[in-house]
Amino acid sequence: MKRLVILSGAGMSAESGIRTFRDMNGLWEEYDVMEVASIEAWYKNPELLLRFYNDRRKQMIGSKPNHGHLLLAELEKSFDVQIITQNVDDLHERAGSTKVLHLHGELTKARSSIDPALIYTLTDPEMNMGDKCGKGSQLRPHIVWFGEEVPAMAEAVPIVESADYLCVIGTSLNVYPAAGLINYAPSSIPLFLIDPNPPGALPKRVQVIAKGASEGVADLMNRLNELRK
Ligand code: APR
Repeated sequence: MKRLVILSGAGMSAESGIRTFRDMNGLWEEYDVMEVASIEAWYKNPELLLRFYNDRRKQMIGSKPNHGHLLLAELEKSFDVQIITQNVDDLHERAGSTKVLHLHGELTKARSSIDPALIYTLTDPEMNMGDKCGKGSQLRPHIVWFGEEVPAMAEAVPIVESADYLCVIGTSLNVYPAAGLINYAPSSIPLFLIDPNPPGALPKRVQVIAKGASEGVADLMNRLNELRK
């Protein structure tokens, strides 16, 4: 099977009712990103970050995969679909996608604040001060904050390098190193981008589908079927 690699961002979950970050009334219009999503903020005010991620976790639990998520899962019948997502929600998985790599962590997980290898799946949507890991340290959200490394890049780069087709969906391509992944795509493969307001300065060969994720993935499926004829 040909390998279809998807690079998704917050726009992928917009139609599920989950706010993006940099659109009008995006999350970063309401919160100062460095106050709620940076390692410095965690040291300064961990309670605030626990509340911020508890709220986002509850919103995720109340949301469901949209048609775009479901179509990506359906594409697994015809392609080896590998999803690399900047999103921390579990909507790709809940839609049925089986290969999902989270670059920026997962809301459904907690981790030790002294041993990053100690990762726990949360059963309760709330994480509070005093919740401890097996080594007795405070649990933290399993999220990559600004100012931290992105360990999953080591796994993501070879996946992009092995793509037969690549489609970017719903990301402003503002945040590195994630945004730089598109540059690892083999020069010979078709590149697509689905976004109603596509970011500027894209490589010329990118085929832009200026639609929302649900309509856009349906369009992508038609284009891929044409290419396979
Ligand atoms: N379908 C597809 N794309 C959409 C939709 C939609 N229905 N609605 C909005 N978009 C697009 C916007 O046009 C924008 O280009 O989704 C993109 C969202 O961009 P951002 O809000 O910047 O989100 P993202 O690129 O995922 O942010 C990257 O920044 O704050 C950090 O860690 C956080 O992972 C996040 C990273």
